Amino acid sequence: MARGQQTWGDEHSRQAHLDEVIERNKTANYGYRKIAADAKTEQVIRHFNSVARQYDFMNTLLSFGIHYLWKRTAVKLLALKAGDRVLDVCGGTGDLSILALRAMGRDGQVALYDINRAMMEAGRFKSTNAAARRQVQFVQGNAEQIAFPDETFDAVMVGFGIRNVTHMEQGFREMYRVLKSGGKMMCLEFSKPTNSVFRWFYDRYSLHVMPLLGQMLAGTRQAYTHLPESIRMFPLADELAAVLRRIGFADVTYRRLTNGIAVIHLGYRH
Ligand SMILES: C[S@@+](CC[C@H](N)C(=O)[O-])C[C@H]1O[C@@H](n2cnc3c(N)ncnc32)[C@H](O)[C@@H]1O
Repeated sequence: MARGQQTWGDEHSRQAHLDEVIERNKTANYGYRKIAADAKTEQVIRHFNSVARQYDFMNTLLSFGIHYLWKRTAVKLLALKAGDRVLDVCGGTGDLSILALRAMGRDGQVALYDINRAMMEAGRFKSTNAAARRQVQFVQGNAEQIAFPDETFDAVMVGFGIRNVTHMEQGFREMYRVLKSGGKMMCLEFSKPTNSVFRWFYDRYSLHVMPLLGQMLAGTRQAYTHLPESIRMFPLADELAAVLRRIGFADVTYRRLTNGIAVIHLGYRH
């Protein structure tokens, strides 16, 4: 995409996120750039290696703490019960896992599945919620091949992670596969604010202020340039709902948060 057009991708550029298009072109979106599809996963690992230690601090700072409210709302919508078994795909430092354990009490079981060891270590050894963190089963692996048997989990969730998975639909297919019949999937992801005035301010903040803060506070401008770019190339809420239905999820719904900066999608395996 040429400079000057670098705000929100059009439908055509968002389609480059679909597995079929990636397979055809052998390229994948990496922010505004196109890279070889088989290089994206390594690039994503390097990206999270560069931010792992500051990840939680930067998230809280850049979102003014709102990401916790989004995550709390998202986990609440899963309506978890004591004794449920939950998978946190692309779980990173474990915010969603901790919230899920809190919702289920001592009998709940959570497995966190992430490709990046540095992110999981940053989460595993954090001092807050230390007891709950010890309860989480950390498993390293690619969301495109989830290392659990079919129909293992009552709920599967993915927070701010699916955007990074090279073959997004394969990731969702795997989530569907490991869900029990009647199980629920929740996807929390960034999206496009609906109000154009609000979006104007959000664009200025995320495309200019965030990279600057990333450089000053986390020592990486590149990582915090990539973040807003990747959000702008990701399917819109309706488009993502259509992908989920195509994969087989039933009763797919979504809810926008904070004017659509983030969106929660829900779907069931019948
Ligand atoms: C933005 S972080 C989100 C972490 C956490 N879910 C949260 O909401 O704070 C995205 C995470 O997805 C992980 N990830 C990216 N691609 C992945 C893949 N193909 N398989 C598994 N994890 C992946 C990254 O390592 C990173 O920890």
